[in-house]
Amino acid sequence: MKKIVISTGGGDAPGLNAVIYAVTKAANLRGWEVYGSRSGYKGLLDLDELVRLSPEKVADITPTGGTILGSTNKGNPFAMPVENLAGDVQIRDVSDRVLSNFKRMGFHCHIAVGGDGSLEIAHRFALKGMPVIGIPKTIDNDLEATVMTFGFDTAVSTATEALDKLHSTAKSHDRVMVVEVMGRESGWIALCSGISGGADVILIPEITFNIEKVCEKINDNELHDKHYAIVVVAEGAQTGEGGVICKEGEVGRQEVLLGGIGEWVAGQIRKITGKDTRSLVLGHLQRGGSPTTFDRLLALRFGAAAVRLAEAGTFDHMVALASPEMTAVPLEVAIKSRKRVPLHCDKVLTAREIGICLGD
Ligand code: F6P
Repeated sequence: MKKIVISTGGGDAPGLNAVIYAVTKAANLRGWEVYGSRSGYKGLLDLDELVRLSPEKVADITPTGGTILGSTNKGNPFAMPVENLAGDVQIRDVSDRVLSNFKRMGFHCHIAVGGDGSLEIAHRFALKGMPVIGIPKTIDNDLEATVMTFGFDTAVSTATEALDKLHSTAKSHDRVMVVEVMGRESGWIALCSGISGGADVILIPEITFNIEKVCEKINDNELHDKHYAIVVVAEGAQTGEGGVICKEGEVGRQEVLLGGIGEWVAGQIRKITGKDTRSLVLGHLQRGGSPTTFDRLLALRFGAAAVRLAEAGTFDHMVALASPEMTAVPLEVAIKSRKRVPLHCDKVLTAREIGICLGD
């Protein structure tokens, strides 16, 4: 009888529990045992943090948000912050301990559910000899090797719903509302929610914006008897002069904490147009709540496909959506590049053709 272990790493995304459900059920069907590692690799570092997953245990988790296993974006076993007896924190490589516990437990393989960072760690373990299968997860939808990651559709739906609600208050007060959305260096959430939610302006990291152009669009609204405007700005959008605004860390690094561009844009619009302007940050609302039907289905399909790969012995690969089919992509290829919005893609053309200003 085979034993497998599943972990969820990095920022959570709606659909993680659906993956855990599908993996547990598909493995159980084959007579295998499934274990979950809590908080990324914690369960493989300390076996007390491993949980046995049974069909009964996962019975009703598919529609729930978050992950029953917990997650962390500070749990890289190759560079783990460890506190010594004196209370100082040192960065240590504890990957050998993870591997030896994996072997001790007699696991057939590890199914690692994560975004670019977690999949990179999974690939490093594969190179060390751990049979690994990756499942792509991120609300940012920034993994090149799959048409879509789960979590993205839910995040876009949440952002669109927020934009729908902002129209009435913006209109009542003749205001400009600036909404900052997530997505790191990719503008997918901003672009898709902005188009669907009737934004006047969408600012994405892939198109450096000129604030004067943004203000021209807002003034143009006035000429057409529209006295309010909705501006969607991706957290990683770049101003011509100011670059990207971060709360912590540096752009291009895994640990960077983006944020603040919405308030900056609102301040500029207020100054240049004289319009009453407010900003808000949607933040982690975009990661919370129940996954949409699309995300649930995709997550369930990814989970089942990962177990098929485990059965076939196709390791060091990530399951990927190549609509309408599922495929397997080598992890090395999957982590190579980020998927950014192509400047001439249909969604960008659609935005322009329905009169949305992209700040250029
Ligand atoms: O990668 C997913 C994501 O939600 C990004 O869109 C965002 O920049 C980041 O994670 C936020 O991370 P944290 O949970 O550490 O605040």
